[in-house]
Amino acid sequence: MIKRIFIGCDHGGFELKEKIMQKYGHSNVFFDKNGKTKADSFTFIDCGAFALDQNDDFPDFVSAVCSEIKKDKNAFGILICGTGIGVSIIANRNKYIRAALCHSTTYAKFARFHNNANVLCLGGRFVDFNTACRIIEVFFKTESSPDLKYKKRMEG
Ligand code: RB5
Repeated sequence: MIKRIFIGCDHGGFELKEKIMQKYGHSNVFFDKNGKTKADSFTFIDCGAFALDQNDDFPDFVSAVCSEIKKDKNAFGILICGTGIGVSIIANRNKYIRAALCHSTTYAKFARFHNNANVLCLGGRFVDFNTACRIIEVFFKTESSPDLKYKKRMEG
């Protein structure tokens, strides 16, 4: 099954979201090509915002992304606001959502490996496009650790 990545943003993340969709939105994406099959690919689905509107509110787009992940527990999300803080706080109020704000590839790696994060949050005003792409690629090619101690900690 091709994994789906639902992406949403407010006006603070709109420019970065548009660039990400331009780069990854046209076909299935392999983040780690070595020996992989179609089943290891991702497809990006845009949940808005679809235009730059300074009056939009990030909880609306968080809700759009999280409701898709609640329907498909194998799906992932990317949420972008100005800092990434607002979207991460609101996203983590939702059951089944483990949202992690990542500023670097190291954060992305551990958000997946230790926390099994299923939503990557980015700050559109604080991370440049190339760094965001590196973070995305590391996040989506890192599997969660098979060590059950990490799973147990995340279950609280
Ligand atoms: C919107 O201006 C800004 O507050 C929002 O994008 C986000 O950074 C909030 O956490």
